[in-house]
Amino acid sequence: MVEFYNPTWDDIEEQIFRIAKEMAKDNFLPDAIVAILTGGVIPAKLFADILNMKNIKYIDIKFYRDVGKTESKPVIKAVYVNDLDNKKVLVVDDVSDTGETLEAVTNVVSMFSPKVIRTATLYVKPWSRKIPDYYGDKVGKWIIFPWDKWDVVRTNPDAPVAKKEKYFELHNIFSRMRG
Ligand code: PRP
Ligand code: MG
Repeated sequence: MVEFYNPTWDDIEEQIFRIAKEMAKDNFLPDAIVAILTGGVIPAKLFADILNMKNIKYIDIKFYRDVGKTESKPVIKAVYVNDLDNKKVLVVDDVSDTGETLEAVTNVVSMFSPKVIRTATLYVKPWSRKIPDYYGDKVGKWIIFPWDKWDVVRTNPDAPVAKKEKYFELHNIFSRMRG
């Protein structure tokens, strides 16, 4: 049975503050952020606002089919990246689990000839083979992020997600419309 961890928005902000403090201590100010779609988008936006910059690029990559179930390799669907030549880049995601996604993304980013690539994830799993340069807490459970909870509960109706009845009611209406 999967154990879940449900960080609140407040917990998310605390992770962001902790990581940003570490970056400040290191005197690390990136020129660009690469957000890993989809889970890294909101953390990337929060970091960008703390760093007072708007330069966010995106890489669309998918590894998980369901809770704990992956494809054989992360699949890169699209790369929305330009102008990283000689730049300091911060790659941002919500979590590094196996570490494969972060590894695939840093490989792609390195093709754009940046000066520096650093990585940040809000959480890291204790078994991840890629430890980000910056991370908040180490968590060994399946993390249900506030921005991902409906995706989790859709295929795991028993998952501890508040207001799931409202989600299912509307989701079912739109599923019927889709036919
Ligand atoms: C999740 C998560 C990370 C990745 C971590 O993304 O957001 O990107 O898995 O796993 P890994 O370290 O084992 O590679 P997912 O593939 O579920 O796509 P999503 O962000 O669109 O939900
Ligand atoms: Mg992801």
